[in-house]
Amino acid sequence: MKELQSRYPVSQRAKANTHVDAGAYEAMYRQSIEQPDVFWAQQAEKFIDWYQPWEQVSSVNFKESQVSWFAGGKLNVSYNCIDRHLANKANDIAVIFEGDEPGDDDKVTYQQLHDHVCRFANLLKQRGVKKGDRVCIYMPMIPEVGYAMLACARIGAVHSVVFGGFSTESIKARVLDADCRVVITADESVRGGKRIPLKANVDEALKDCPDVHSVIVVERTGADVHWNPELDVKYAESVANLPAVCEPEQMDAEDPLFVLYTSGSTGKPKGVLHTCGGYLLYAAMTHKYVFDYQEGEIYWCTADAGWVTGHSYIFYGPLANGATTLVFEGVPTYPDAGRFWQVCEKHKVNIFYTAPTALRALMGLGDELVEQADLSSIRLLGTVGEPINPEAWHWYYEIVGKENCPIVDTWWQTETGGILLTSLPGAVDMKPGATGKPFFGVEPAIFDKEGNELEGEAEGLLMMKGSWPGQMRTVYGDHQRFYDTYLSQYPGNYFTGDGAKRDADGFYWITGRVDDVLNVSGHRLGTAEIESALVLHPAVAEAAVVGYPHDIKGQGIYAYVTLMGSASESDTLQGELTEFVAKELGRFAKPDYIQWAPGLPKTRSGKIMRRILRKIAENEMESLGDTSTLADPSVVDHLVTNRIVK
Ligand code: WTA
Repeated sequence: MKELQSRYPVSQRAKANTHVDAGAYEAMYRQSIEQPDVFWAQQAEKFIDWYQPWEQVSSVNFKESQVSWFAGGKLNVSYNCIDRHLANKANDIAVIFEGDEPGDDDKVTYQQLHDHVCRFANLLKQRGVKKGDRVCIYMPMIPEVGYAMLACARIGAVHSVVFGGFSTESIKARVLDADCRVVITADESVRGGKRIPLKANVDEALKDCPDVHSVIVVERTGADVHWNPELDVKYAESVANLPAVCEPEQMDAEDPLFVLYTSGSTGKPKGVLHTCGGYLLYAAMTHKYVFDYQEGEIYWCTADAGWVTGHSYIFYGPLANGATTLVFEGVPTYPDAGRFWQVCEKHKVNIFYTAPTALRALMGLGDELVEQADLSSIRLLGTVGEPINPEAWHWYYEIVGKENCPIVDTWWQTETGGILLTSLPGAVDMKPGATGKPFFGVEPAIFDKEGNELEGEAEGLLMMKGSWPGQMRTVYGDHQRFYDTYLSQYPGNYFTGDGAKRDADGFYWITGRVDDVLNVSGHRLGTAEIESALVLHPAVAEAAVVGYPHDIKGQGIYAYVTLMGSASESDTLQGELTEFVAKELGRFAKPDYIQWAPGLPKTRSGKIMRRILRKIAENEMESLGDTSTLADPSVVDHLVTNRIVK
């Protein structure tokens, strides 16, 4: 490979294609900061169809935990994603489906999307779902997951999508927290040739959720599943006779659109709530400008609908822009590790958006599989979810993009609703590993630990000084937690939980989480969640979990476990604990290593010194730091001696 440059100027090709060149970026950015309400009102008129205009563009007071955009404005998200396109695009493809098995595919036009969503919405109504009710969606990556989300949006119900890799306990906790009365699922999902019993997981979870009165089951594999006629409803059979018309509910811009649970520093995931108007505007606008989306292009984001990337950049953003979006059910390595590239060739994908962890896994398997595919349709590449290391960036640029496609490294969070930092492809140069510059209306700031804002070149905590329309509005059912988690640290600013560095050219470089959140293969996980799962096991007295650098996953999971006096250390117990976490949380949360810890390093007041545990897991024994303040410094020696050498 060629030598990696530290900076790649905007290419002629990107300039020729762009909605926003360097001059436009500067001018629009300036206006968005100096006159935010004027700027956002123009964008809201351009991107969204409103039944009724808003009364106030924005009303934001972080000290009072108040964020509101376009209040009084009336719209419907599903109308904006479907109906308004029908006049010109009824027969254009809205969704391309690519199943787990090559050859299993489908295309859904905007008209068909409309009909499916209306029927689904009518089914929800028939089951008593009303505006404001919460609906849990636990589905495979098939078009029906999108129909379900849009059907909720159409009638004003609030969806809570639970990632299909989560286990029964996680489903249960989410159903209960949001008080969902209806669950939408499938008999099974299929990934990489393996079947996952979604319906059985739901059945198990609902044993403790007495208020759920309907489970709508999409038949994906036709597997024989347990059937409770009082609760369970067959999707295909039920919608067959329902009308393909359903009047969209007129929603206030500030009415909730969805809740999506995400991990934080405590054991209990937070229900991040997004509202209709600001969220949709922000998703649509970022989709268009960050990917420079042009009419007729085929766009593929490889995320799962269970994560925010799937919400904003598989469904809401692309569909609001009338795009063709690809929904992929499978995994990158099935039937072989060339699958991504085969799918790009088959469907002539123009824009491809994925996670660094997938690239790292694939680059290790050689270039042949990429080279065997005709990737000439690809025009732009994107990454999301974690910092991209230079080797992976280089491989993506040279081998996949043939040095002819810009890469947009997009930084954002479940809480932000859409992309906040990236290099707009036709406007800003690329620096491999940097996540670029702020999107319109976004004012990042770097703070030190004492709460001082740092100017110019600096490294510290990444904060946002003002609001943007896609910002979360609250933690479902716990508004105080919204303030405590994000707004209380440096009053007047939003705290991202990430560390970052700003270079002399004003580019941002994310250095990783500064709290106890891990990023494992792009999946966000709280260390406290894994600890809570471990201590539920009768043999475990105490557990402390930390991350360590992992070549492919970005971070791996390293758990220190103190056993009950009655239990004894064994390989069998280690295996049992690993499986126990998989059952409690999901397979993606399984610890990579468990080290037995007769004692954990604690301060005299009983606080676990995670810094030390992290260093041991990272094999950095020289930088353990000061251990003299520990209640019992000798526990560190034991942990160091018995550490697992990876
Ligand atoms: C991390 C995913 C570096 C970051 C959209 C953030 C990134 C967390 C990037 C949010 C990126 C996301 N570069 N780090 N381009 N994108 N992150 O809520 O730590 O699942 O706080 O949202 O992922 O994860 P979440």
